[in-house]
Amino acid sequence: MLLQMETKMTEFQKAAEETELVLDVKDLNIYYGTNHAVKHVDLPVYERTITALIGPSGCGKSTFIRTINRMNDLIPGAKCEGEINYNQLNLLNPKVDVVRLRSEIGMVFQQPNPFPKSIYENLALPLKFNGVRSKKKLLEVAENCLKQAALWDEVKDILDKSALSLSGGQQQRLCIARALVLKPKVLLLDEPTSALDPVSHF
Ligand SMILES: Nc1ncnc2c1ncn2[C@@H]1O[C@H](COP(=O)(O)OP(=O)(O)OP(=O)(O)O)[C@@H](O)[C@H]1O
Ligand SMILES: [Mg+2]
Repeated sequence: MLLQMETKMTEFQKAAEETELVLDVKDLNIYYGTNHAVKHVDLPVYERTITALIGPSGCGKSTFIRTINRMNDLIPGAKCEGEINYNQLNLLNPKVDVVRLRSEIGMVFQQPNPFPKSIYENLALPLKFNGVRSKKKLLEVAENCLKQAALWDEVKDILDKSALSLSGGQQQRLCIARALVLKPKVLLLDEPTSALDPVSHF
């Protein structure tokens, strides 16, 4: 992964010349027990750009992006060293408020993981959790995000149905919509459309 990231960097940096750094990863090392899964990764990420990580299965792509919003904290034996700088803050610092961090740095996983709630609640809950109370606003954001995730037409009449009653591809598009509701500054996508058929890709 490291090699491929480095080869892409020159072109990428040229394109990003006009933009600001949003994440600056420095000498990141990630371990699962004795397995040194991610080795010495340096990666600047610029705002308003798309950065893609390419590499063979098992090279550490998921591990790397899970670490950015601290999802690896939940894995026993996982450990990381180095820096992930975001707004002058090293996100690996144990004092970082991970709830706030995850509202600014959202993530969509390879497997759909909707909340076992209604379709509407999947979109409304993150907003309610962040203090939005207006029903009108909740509905407006839900509709907008479902449209962005190309799911609105399929669910607009069944918003009160359980998210778990949707097909796998619909659940994944719901998770993409859910990741958009808080307007994250950074969106981490771990092969989020690999389970969708080509027509559903957007
Ligand atoms: N939860 C975990 N516990 C222990 N080891 C793990 C865990 N997750 C990943 N690993 C190990 O870390 C290494 C990197 O795995 P990772 O899932 O990050 O690879 P990947 O590049 O995302 O692969 P893929 O393309 O197959 O999704 C592998 O050796 C894997 O076995
Ligand atoms: Mg992976």
